[in-house]
Amino acid sequence: MMQLFPSTYFTYKNKQLYCEGVAVTQIVKQTGTPTYIYSKKYFEDASKEFDEAFRAVRHKIFYAAKSNFNLSVIKTFIELGSGVDVNSEGELYRALKAGAKPEKIILTSVGKTKNEIKLGLERDVLMIKAESEEEVYLINEIASSMNKIARVAIRVNPDVNPKTHPYISTGLSENKFGVDSETALKLFRKQKELKNILFTGIDMHIGSQITTLSPFVEAVEKLANLFLILKKEGLELIHFDIGGGIGIQYNDEKTFSVNKFAEALLPIVKKLNCEIIFEPGRYLTANAGILVTEVLYTKKNQHKNFLVVDAAMTDLLRPSIYGAYHHVQPVKLDESRSEIIADVVGPVCESGDFLAKERTIQKCEHGDLLAVMSAGAYGMVMASNYNARRKPAEILVTGNSFSIIRARETFEHLVFDEENYL
Ligand SMILES: Cc1ncc(COP(=O)(O)O)c(C=O)c1O
Repeated sequence: MMQLFPSTYFTYKNKQLYCEGVAVTQIVKQTGTPTYIYSKKYFEDASKEFDEAFRAVRHKIFYAAKSNFNLSVIKTFIELGSGVDVNSEGELYRALKAGAKPEKIILTSVGKTKNEIKLGLERDVLMIKAESEEEVYLINEIASSMNKIARVAIRVNPDVNPKTHPYISTGLSENKFGVDSETALKLFRKQKELKNILFTGIDMHIGSQITTLSPFVEAVEKLANLFLILKKEGLELIHFDIGGGIGIQYNDEKTFSVNKFAEALLPIVKKLNCEIIFEPGRYLTANAGILVTEVLYTKKNQHKNFLVVDAAMTDLLRPSIYGAYHHVQPVKLDESRSEIIADVVGPVCESGDFLAKERTIQKCEHGDLLAVMSAGAYGMVMASNYNARRKPAEILVTGNSFSIIRARETFEHLVFDEENYL
């Protein structure tokens, strides 16, 4: 039987899908498809819930802009009191444009260029995360040439298995991220020699879409030990950064609540007596968004049904690269229709271009609208122009009204950086 994704932000009224108080069809009438739609209330509620859960310790949330870097989305989190975790100079640019104060920005990335480090120092961001021994020396050198003291956290790879998709697992020794505990200790112990660095934090991020608590507990315990060893030796770090990674429900995963997350971690981090930093992305954005697409064709090859829709891997890449599950459901429910099992596929010339496989869904017709659920994180940010497709529009719903927060790309967008060279 066709299943509907459980959500209190995307609900059916008179068999029509709504985002908060706005009918999806009303939005699409104005914007066309494919279009991303986000619920502002979801951003607010998730953000407040996270903050509340950790009220027992001094803490700060740095929204991981990589999950959804639309300026209006970043701005929403800034207005909710969040800082921003940026993963490149481009994200730094976006965060500043959205109104983030440099002292509420963390600069991450396993491969920062000299220019990115320089930019971080020029802008005076709260801290730069170093992910290798060479990077620590380079930051010191660049800061020295700029006559600055760089505030640096070292990202430690705690070598725990987050039990998630291998492409989004980052905390195992075989992964490219961070340095091992011994190297971290060695580097922190060089504080006196590194004249242009002030070590302010220790950091981890063990992966994304993690649905069990034990990898977090194991990793935080390991890093808390390091933190306390350094404290004993006289190095007082002021931040302990746990990263992001909390898993959300896409299908039938058993996830944990942010309260359970806090319950598991608070006893460990309370002992540290410093500011605890979090960098959630997916948790704050994934179930705040849907991608709406129109059915272009229905067809049957041999025994297989296909719904060919106007959204593609270029709009939502997750199914193609991770085999990720996104629930797909009709925007208008019609119980008089029978159900079929179908693949939902896009127009791109790749067999990997699909949004869903073998789904039970009500029979569709040309022109029907479908909602691809849980699409607010790692959706639009991974959109591409492959097949010279224009990137979708993005809409933010607030109560009974909605606004366009990014217009659909125009044909001029597609050629603007080439036309002058013809
Ligand atoms: C360093 C860092 N922090 C935070 C995040 C956000 O992760 P999530 O969206 O799983 O919360 C990521 C995601 O890759 C990351 O690399």
